[in-house]
Amino acid sequence: MSANTISINKQNHQLDGKDHVWLFGYGSLIFKADFHYLQRQPAIISDWQRRFWQGSHDHRGTPDNPGRVATLAPESGALCRGMAYMISTDTFDYLDFREKNGYLRLTTTLAFDDGNRAEALVYIATEKNEAYLGPASESDIAQHIHRCVGPRGTNSNYLFELANALRDLDAVDDHVFEIERHLLILSDTTSA
Ligand code: SIN
Repeated sequence: MSANTISINKQNHQLDGKDHVWLFGYGSLIFKADFHYLQRQPAIISDWQRRFWQGSHDHRGTPDNPGRVATLAPESGALCRGMAYMISTDTFDYLDFREKNGYLRLTTTLAFDDGNRAEALVYIATEKNEAYLGPASESDIAQHIHRCVGPRGTNSNYLFELANALRDLDAVDDHVFEIERHLLILSDTTSA
């Protein structure tokens, strides 16, 4: 599958007949909500884990030196905490462009903190897209992130902003916090 998912996302029928839907954000959509939303609430989805396994050619890296950004990998029993946004379906014109590097809109079920549940869409980059980089140790991922920069800024800032946003949400995420720990050591070494 091509890394550019705009036309695939446009062809599916998830939005037919709807004015508003919930969107679940677990990566930059948590800390960079540069789109219009009607409300937002922390939420959890089940059986997915956040992983820095997706390549970024257009935001936090370049085609020659792709960064590593978050996607979700299936994992039975895993809980992924993030932010749910109620958005107008028109907003997907912008979001499909922003998330075009490999992310497909899939359907999931949200659980809010009050126990209520709702259907939502979530952008996931699966191993079938050309920009997918796949698993690596947290230490190797940190070294990779440390050397990447793209049009939206450094790859390190993506990781640090996400880690801070997850702490604000009281989210437990050993993968992200372990990459952050390695990255802080690398950043200290470089600036010393
Ligand atoms: C998301 O945040 O939900 C998708 C991945 C990203 O844009 O970082």
